[in-house]
Amino acid sequence: MSHSGPAVPMTSYPVRGLRGTADVPGDKSISHRALILGAMAVGETRIEGLLEGEDVLRTGAAMRAFGAEVTNLGGGRWSVHGVGTGGFAEPADVIDCGNAGTGVRLIMGAMATSPITAAFTGDASLRARPMGRVTDPLALFGAAAYGRQGGRLPMTVVGAAEPVPVQYAVPMPSAQVKSAVLLAGLNAPGDTLVTEDELTRDHTERMLSGFGAEVTVEEVSGQRVITLRGQPELRPQDIVVPRDPSSAAFPVCAALITEGSDVLVPNIGLNPTRAGLYTTLREMGADLAFENLREAGGEPVADLRARFSPGLKGVEVPPERAASMIDEYPILSVVAASAEGKTTMAGVKELRVKESDRIDAMARGLEANGVRIDEAEDRLVVHGLGPGGVPGGGKAAARLDHRIAMSFLCLGMSAARPVKVDDAAPIATSFPAFEELMSDLGAQLRRDNA
Ligand code: S3P
Repeated sequence: MSHSGPAVPMTSYPVRGLRGTADVPGDKSISHRALILGAMAVGETRIEGLLEGEDVLRTGAAMRAFGAEVTNLGGGRWSVHGVGTGGFAEPADVIDCGNAGTGVRLIMGAMATSPITAAFTGDASLRARPMGRVTDPLALFGAAAYGRQGGRLPMTVVGAAEPVPVQYAVPMPSAQVKSAVLLAGLNAPGDTLVTEDELTRDHTERMLSGFGAEVTVEEVSGQRVITLRGQPELRPQDIVVPRDPSSAAFPVCAALITEGSDVLVPNIGLNPTRAGLYTTLREMGADLAFENLREAGGEPVADLRARFSPGLKGVEVPPERAASMIDEYPILSVVAASAEGKTTMAGVKELRVKESDRIDAMARGLEANGVRIDEAEDRLVVHGLGPGGVPGGGKAAARLDHRIAMSFLCLGMSAARPVKVDDAAPIATSFPAFEELMSDLGAQLRRDNA
């Protein structure tokens, strides 16, 4: 069911325990990048374990529209015949990125230094999100963008015919912006420099090196400076996509707060730029065990075991940890509701420009289920009710946001009464098998009549 189709209202009922193995899908960030860099390499890139969620499938379709050959080989295996750096053809139609901020922003970067024009759009959530944070630096390369007021989609990007390399300090912690600039830098002559104050997920840097680009990363007066040598010939790669730690967060967190649970999530990516949630859960007293630590496809991976943890305590999550767990605050606030004491999440204003305003979405949904919260522009405080203390019985609005929908369905598993979500369809963007996988662990999810 598509998030642009009819709404799928769903109720999650309290259960006794979640038990078993959760094979969560491939990493969304890495999947987008594998398709895009595969399309910019010369020759065939093979990808294993690609996330076949709507967001990533749209990036695959977009790469076809730019001239790459993208083939689904079955069983999560994909082949991409790339057209080479600077080899993108002009798409014959508008590129619809659906719900995917990562997709649209990275693709805009990748095409912005080719002499072609492309028009972009997306669903209602994506059309409300700011694109200026990407088109501002792309203008420095010589590209132009024409969108709606506030830099919103639909938007047309006219690529630079004679791009120049750029030095850009990313003004907000955003891996999407950093990546868009690096991808644009691929087809500019000379060195493009990107500086970030805070370390954000580094999959683009890692993968660019894997594809044979010259990328160096240095610390200069507390800043991270990435230098990319332009116009390399990218060599095709065999990429094994680790499972998504941001998707793993849902069965893991549901297990921590649902009595009698014991869940194993094999093979999850543990890139330190993504691991902030797990640090925080440990500080809260979660029973988590990382087993078989190893490396796969240039990324650290492990098997993660999570058991019901009745002694969870509220914590203060420091602002400097925000970038490494930015997508996990919604599910962390659900865990916080079942902890003793208050959990303060500071420095989280980027949550306001995600698929929804996630601070507001979590605050309203938690209140509707009997949890007290305090909210400020860049802060969310959840007053925990202790294990089994969340009343539930309320309804939450998903706001076209997969992570909001999944978070409230997890809340329902451990609350005293069922929790309703008005629309579970957006879950298909990142975790198409969520309903089946959670049900196999013992969750009781029921589709309601719309
Ligand atoms: C992503 C970066 C983050 C994150 C998103 C995926 C990426 O967005 O929220 O889900 O793959 O680069 P920002 O770069 O806007 O923080």
